[in-house]
Amino acid sequence: MARVQPLTAEERAIKRTEEAAVTQLTSQHLLGMQELSPAEINLILDTAFVMKNILSVQTKKTAHLQGRSVITFFAENSTRTRLSFDMACKYLGATTASIGASDSSIRKGENLYDTVKTLEMMSTDILVIRHSQSGAPHYIAERIDASVINAGDGMNEHPTQALLDMMTMIEYKGAIKGLKVAIIGDAMHSRVMRSNVWGLSKVGAEVRVAAPPTMIPRFLEQMPCQVCHDVREACAGVDIIMGLRVQLERQLSALFPSVNEYAHFFGIDKECLDLAKPDALIMHPGPCNHGVEMPTFIHEHERSVIHEQVANGVSVRMAVLFLLNAKRNAKLEELAASRKGSI
Ligand code: CP
Repeated sequence: MARVQPLTAEERAIKRTEEAAVTQLTSQHLLGMQELSPAEINLILDTAFVMKNILSVQTKKTAHLQGRSVITFFAENSTRTRLSFDMACKYLGATTASIGASDSSIRKGENLYDTVKTLEMMSTDILVIRHSQSGAPHYIAERIDASVINAGDGMNEHPTQALLDMMTMIEYKGAIKGLKVAIIGDAMHSRVMRSNVWGLSKVGAEVRVAAPPTMIPRFLEQMPCQVCHDVREACAGVDIIMGLRVQLERQLSALFPSVNEYAHFFGIDKECLDLAKPDALIMHPGPCNHGVEMPTFIHEHERSVIHEQVANGVSVRMAVLFLLNAKRNAKLEELAASRKGSI
């Protein structure tokens, strides 16, 4: 069987059901998918496809963020998110610097506010933050003037991951509206699950979440998704099967008897693929525990778009940086105009 291919821009245009109805984001921060409207999600995704076109030409560079400074502050480990933000900044011409908790003065006891205020005072326009505490980006956004982008906060949200997942779905399926999406795995700890449930449901997908009973948080019943206790029930007839990482580092107490048992009952296997639609895509935010969430042959399956998700992460982060910068510019222009009017 041949490897799954993305649709062309023309094929995507035929399947498109909604036009972006806004040209600007409401907020100068990106804190979560819960805060975004469907029109704002469409605007970011449309912009991400423009950014992808820019990356496909030889120079790969624009000057949209020239003169702007971005600091990425990762108080938790990351490969994909940290480096793709870093690359996105460079492709847009921004001045960038990056710091992690282990190499910062947090190790000497400095608190979060003092840390981010210090980063802001270096003429920083946009601060990208990953933190183990849910709500840390919201706390910061209320206290500094720089724009704040949530790059993953505890068990709350990971909005740019959901946006890149949605971009990948559009790339292969043309539109999100009407898609059936099964999200399988550690729903208890997963910020990726939360962001995807909020985001996908807002633009018209039907979302099912399957996990062992001990990994299903109570609040999931209040979210716009169907909760399944059986992975096969979740996968039946879906367009997308998305595995979630089992976050072994966050397991304070054993939530399942053994990794082998988890893999047996909730691992994505050939039977799951057979139950899904014949052209269903396989997705995973990474990093993947091979043999736990899915075996390597499913990770590398011809219908897996896991590597394409990583590639789209750069375009989505370029789009978010570009749109937040545009919002900041618009706010500055409004301020200048109101001052002129009052003279
Ligand atoms: N998906 C994701 O957030 O991966 P990283 O932890 O490598 O950034």
